[in-house]
This record gives sequence, C-alpha cells and structure tokens, in this order.
Amino acid sequence: MNILLLGSGGREHALAVALAASPRCDELYIAPGNGGTAAVGENVLLDAEDPAAVADFARETGCGLVVIGPEAPLVVGVADAVRAVGIPCFGPGAEGAQVEGSKKFSKELMERAGVPTAAYASFTDEAAALAYVRDQGAPLVVKADGLAAGKGVVVATELSQAEDAVRACFDGAFGKAGATVVIEEMMTGPECSLLAFTDGETVRPMCTSQDHKRALEGDRGPNTGGMGAYAPVPIVTDEEHAAMVDALEKTVAQLHAEGIDYRGCLYGGFMLTPAGPKVLEFNARFGDPETQVVIPRLENDLVEVMLAVAEGRLSEVELRWSDRWAVTVVLTSAGYPGSYEKGKVITGVEDAEAMDDVTVYHAGTALTDAGELVTSGGRVLDVTALGDTFEAARDRAYAACEKIQFEGKTLRHDIGLRALRGRAAWDE
Ligand code: AMP
Ligand code: GLY
Repeated sequence: MNILLLGSGGREHALAVALAASPRCDELYIAPGNGGTAAVGENVLLDAEDPAAVADFARETGCGLVVIGPEAPLVVGVADAVRAVGIPCFGPGAEGAQVEGSKKFSKELMERAGVPTAAYASFTDEAAALAYVRDQGAPLVVKADGLAAGKGVVVATELSQAEDAVRACFDGAFGKAGATVVIEEMMTGPECSLLAFTDGETVRPMCTSQDHKRALEGDRGPNTGGMGAYAPVPIVTDEEHAAMVDALEKTVAQLHAEGIDYRGCLYGGFMLTPAGPKVLEFNARFGDPETQVVIPRLENDLVEVMLAVAEGRLSEVELRWSDRWAVTVVLTSAGYPGSYEKGKVITGVEDAEAMDDVTVYHAGTALTDAGELVTSGGRVLDVTALGDTFEAARDRAYAACEKIQFEGKTLRHDIGLRALRGRAAWDE
C-alpha cells in the first residue's frame, strides 16, 4: 500500500521509520519531510495545509492511507478532504481537531465530559478579562485560545505578568488565536503525557511519556518545542495511570456523543496534582518529541494500527509494548528558541547510529545538492536510545550525542534526571 505522511519534524521521521518498516508499506511519501525522512521514503513538495491538494495527491498516487503529523493541517480540515475522496486517514477532522485548536472548546468539552482540569474562565473582552485577573489574583495561567505555536501560554506568578499577558493577547500578539483568552488556576505537580490511539469509539492508550519543554537545565529558561523526552514515566502510580486513561476515554465518549467522529491520536497532557491527574491540554496529534520515545517501544505493525484507527476497527487491535526504556535528547542550534543560524554541516550521525539501540531522528536537517547533511531548524536531531534500564537508555543516548558534531550544537544534560531521582525531586 502507498502511504502519504504529512509533516517535517522529528515526530514525522519517527513515524516514517515505523511505517516504512511495515511489510504492508510500498511507497511512502512524506510532505515535505526532512533530511532524515528522505532515507526511508520520498520527500514530496505539497502544501500540507491545502485540503484539496493533499486529497488530489493521495488519489493520484493511489495512497491507501494518509497520516497527518502536525496540528495545522488537522485544524483546516485536511482529514475531512481525504476521507471525502474515500481514502482512510489517520487524524481527526476539523471539528475534532478543535480539542487542540481552541482551548475554550477543549475546556467546555471537558466540563461536559466530567474530566478533571484546572478551573477557568474565558473572555472575548479585555476589560472583563483584566477585572477577572485582578479579582482572582496571582498566580494564574493566561492562554490564547487558538494555535500559537506553543507560545500562547503564560504562567504568571505576579499579577502584573497576568495583566500583561491578557493585554498582549488582545493587542494581537497571537493574531486571531488571541481574540479569546482562557484564564486558568495554576496547578502544581509533575507533568506526564498519555497519548491514545482512537477510532472515535475504542481507545487504546499508548505508554506514558514526558517532555522537557524549557530550554535550560533545571527546567529554566523559555519554552521550546521540546528538548528531550523519555518513556515510560516511572513516577506514575497505578491510580494516576487509571485516572489518565479514564480522562481520555471520557473525552472520546463525549466527542462521540456529540457526533464528532475522532480518528487518530488524542494526546493528553496531564499535571499529576496532589488531587490527582488533571488535564493541562489536549493535542489532536502525536507529541513531538514524545513520539520519538513512544513509537520505538510499540511492537505492533504501525500501518496495521493506523489503518484500524482510520477504518473504525481499532477494537480488533491489542497493542503490545516493549518493556525497555527509551530516552531522546534533542540537539538544537545555538540560540534556539530565539534566532539561530542554519546551514551548518553535521557529522557523526552514522557513528551514533552504529551504536546498539540508537536511532537518530532528524528534526531540522536538509540535504544540500552536494548531498551534505546540514542544519535547517532550531531543533536539529533527536538522539534516541533504548535500554533495559532507564539509566542504560539515558547513558546510551548521551554517549551517542557526543559522536555528533555541528557548529552551535546545544543540548540539555538533564533529560530524565528528575524522574530517575524519584517523585520527591519535584518538590525540591
Ligand atoms: P499548554 O500548552 O496548555 O499545555 O501549556 C503549556 C505549559 O504551560 C504546560 O506544559 C504547563 O507547563 C504550563 N501550564 C499550562 N496550564 C497550566 C496550569 N493550569 N497550571 C500550571 N501550569 C500550566
Ligand atoms: N511535546 C508537546 C507537544 O507536542 O505539543
């Protein structure tokens, strides 16, 4: 079967490797892909956010499955267009994608479904939002309603920060995404992601994982697209795990009851609060870099699982997970998440991949006409290792990072360290 995968990051490289490994996969097209995906499929130039263009390409190339990596194509209805031409698609339609595309939609859905989440209020009027902020007092969390590339959330410990965040939203800092503002109570505790495959009725949770969003060691500095991740998360109790699964199941059941046919990955971002896990956010897609540690632990054929999701027969599938640990460390360009230089020559990727249980997923790389691998983004490579213990996976990932060089190479050295030290490390 021919397959079209949309996206260009480390998440898509990890999905591409797993899709290409399936005996059911013939041609794998990645649009637009990156320097790594070119080795497992064919990178194609296609506007991934143009529903008609994607549907036409999939039809013309005889694809039997379209997999949507990032949120932007989901929110504009690419999955709807693909399904309308009769091709199975992994990813929710525009209605379902609102779980990520609108924080207000997602909060209201959780309220109706009885899913634990932070208390909140939403506003379309600046004066009313400011009055609410002053009435509540700090700390508070201010969020732009729509997609803001991960930059639309301010955790304000001072009242003035919350006021500034509200003003920034209404002043257009996030364009239309900030026309509605959601203000939440601040929660505390470790964060944990639980992603699930769902065909709109059956929910099959994946393994837990944890991202490291801040740029600097010790979880300081600005938020990034993710500096590293590991799976599974050892500090989660059985009760917490059950509560997270329950939240995902209730959410899918609520969507179903409201006539929204959600087929794809539902990503639950949770905070493990003293009162139990509460939802921080939903994403309508796989996480990046969580995918890079979750998918290598999946023992099923990914094409079969994704087809079952897309065709509404996920109840036929049981997931099987490796009991090994996975750690990914992101190598970034100096300056990221601010401005950074591109086009730096990368060496040592083959040496790193020659190590046992190491895979290097490309996030921001490109091949020059001369065939040289160069940096083309802020997050450059996701150096991923499996191990029989958490320590072994971590040590191996960091040893592999040492083999790779490019000018400006930057990384966090503490990926997974807190989890390794146990739950108490979050209270230090
Ligand atoms: P979101 O995009 O909504 O997941 O928010 C991004 C990050 O902001 C989360 O990963 C948390 O670290 C933090 N955050 C969001 N909402 C809250 C909250 N209600 N309480 C504390 N931290 C939060
Ligand atoms: N790792 C967080 C996200 O993918 O949104």
